[in-house]
Amino acid sequence: MTTHRAGVDEAEHVAGVEVKPVAGHIGAEITGVDLAAPLDERVVALIRHAVLRWKVVFFRGQRLDHAGHIAFARRFGEPVLLPGRGPHSPPGFPEIETTADRLELSGRYGMERDEWLQRRRHTLLRGWHCDHGTRIDPPAATVLRAESVPPYGGDTTWANLAAAYAGLSAPVRAFVDGLRAEHRLGVGYQPRLGGDAYARRLLDEQVASVHPLVRVHPETGERVLFVNGYYVEQIVDVSRPESAALLEMLLEQAVRPEYTVRFRWEPGSVAFWDNRATIHLAPGDHTHVGAARVMHRVMLHGEVPVGVDGRPSEPLVGTEAGRW
Ligand SMILES: [Fe+2]
Repeated sequence: MTTHRAGVDEAEHVAGVEVKPVAGHIGAEITGVDLAAPLDERVVALIRHAVLRWKVVFFRGQRLDHAGHIAFARRFGEPVLLPGRGPHSPPGFPEIETTADRLELSGRYGMERDEWLQRRRHTLLRGWHCDHGTRIDPPAATVLRAESVPPYGGDTTWANLAAAYAGLSAPVRAFVDGLRAEHRLGVGYQPRLGGDAYARRLLDEQVASVHPLVRVHPETGERVLFVNGYYVEQIVDVSRPESAALLEMLLEQAVRPEYTVRFRWEPGSVAFWDNRATIHLAPGDHTHVGAARVMHRVMLHGEVPVGVDGRPSEPLVGTEAGRW
């Protein structure tokens, strides 16, 4: 988000608007705001403050259309324009990417979605990710809007990576402060023998960066454990087994239940999260329900991450993630 540096302890108050935390370390519901209406500067400041403080905020019962969604997001930064978007994304709104679960990837790359899911990284924590984390400048924030959701299932869970870092012991914090890791697309994907169009695309259109393992948040100054189960290939300058063991420990730390919040979507729900300080878990419990889950996403441009030692991330290959 393009904002001045904000302290997270200074509170903003606007009559009629409430910020209600919903879990101990992360997540707050904001009531009393109509996101489709022109927003007062003070309301924008309150929301910005709440996102920085609670990492993800939720709004219910909103009536945003595509233009309204983009206009709301623009109050907080510049939307990311993707070079390629999913087939369900709305024409004329390049800022919006639409996902319609169960339809994604079906038949693409010559395989059904179930097979593609089976071929992904063999870890139970793989679904945890930040959005487009392999870019040299991962998005600062995401605004996700639910159009239709299944009657049950399909919740999203977020984890607070600043709280997870703070919860490590002092010696381990000092140890991980100096490490860096390679993030890339398709980590652990097992290609089909005899040719695999998806694996070929991973090679041809790879986007990879080396990011600090502990990132200093550009707005709050917090140290953030920059790990996820989806994009982190390995910690650099250590052996593969050392890297695997460390990553498993750090990722388990990041997603401990006390650092997470889970959100039940309804049509008209909006979640707005700090993509620099959180990871989230794509739901895996609704595909059997048989109802479409249609979600619209706008991401905001982010900065090149910087480590505790002041060193920025480095690009390895590619510059921006397209349709991944
Ligand atoms: Fe995501």
